[in-house]
Amino acid sequence: MTDPHHPQPTPYVLDSAARADLEFDRLRTIEQVYDPGTEELLTQVDPAPGWSCLEVGAGAGSIARRLASTAGESGRVVATDTDPRFLRNIAHPGVNVIEHDITTDPLPPGSWDLIHARSVLEHLPDPESVLARLIPSLAPHGQLFAEAIDVSTETLAIAAAQAPDRKTATAFLEFATAVHRLMTLAGAHPELGSNLPVILAAHGLESITHQRRHPLVPGGKRGFYALTLARLAPAFQDHGLLDTTDGHLSSLFDDPSVVFPALPIGAAHGHAPAVGRRQ
Ligand SMILES: C[S@@+](CC[C@H](N)C(=O)[O-])C[C@H]1O[C@@H](n2cnc3c(N)ncnc32)[C@H](O)[C@@H]1O
Repeated sequence: MTDPHHPQPTPYVLDSAARADLEFDRLRTIEQVYDPGTEELLTQVDPAPGWSCLEVGAGAGSIARRLASTAGESGRVVATDTDPRFLRNIAHPGVNVIEHDITTDPLPPGSWDLIHARSVLEHLPDPESVLARLIPSLAPHGQLFAEAIDVSTETLAIAAAQAPDRKTATAFLEFATAVHRLMTLAGAHPELGSNLPVILAAHGLESITHQRRHPLVPGGKRGFYALTLARLAPAFQDHGLLDTTDGHLSSLFDDPSVVFPALPIGAAHGHAPAVGRRQ
């Protein structure tokens, strides 16, 4: 058992040693939960044909595909992931998939009109240093759009108020609080979604916007919470963070008639300076 007082930092809490079908389903639930909000924010980014886009930690690839549809044949979309298993069949000729660790590998060469990363940076040991490398690779006036979990106490309270009843709110808070503790023990950043705007400003981006969201998600055996709980249960047990053995959470999370707030996510967006104004 891992000593909870001396946890081994891991570069990514949700490491990829999961059964492939379950992991693919889990990534797909992340897309189902968060894509509508990402899509809405992308309309403000307003990608155009010919754009050069970098999708970091692309997961199952929905946003990379979406960007390639807009960038078209004259554009370029590079989708990176340390675990590109689920990108190999991405079924879009405009997406160039590369196996790539954003913390250590040289950045794919390019002068990007858009860099997007969702639910990746918060799992890394030093997200600010990754952003500090990504931002200079933007084209003049290029855009960075970063989204990260924000399970701070304040944000969780707002999200829990959307739960349909007290039992659901309690289960949500119990689970999300355990996620916060586990990420902290692992050296990850459970409140990064709130801190992104300050980091983007500190690294010279302009016209920064920030938005938090926590869409509602239904339960279900192959749903977001059931699959995430299945994935994290061993770590919760190891660290004594959450007792999952009595089934009180899984009976709720497996129930398709129950609706939960998703884990809150913070999205920040900014522009690189225009030509000639870069330091
Ligand atoms: C929670 S999933 C999110 C997937 C996708 N961005 C989405 O929101 O649908 C995190 C993804 O980041 C990838 N990842 C983790 N560490 C990474 C790293 N150091 N460099 C690149 N990708 C990484 C994982 O393999 C996984 O596919």
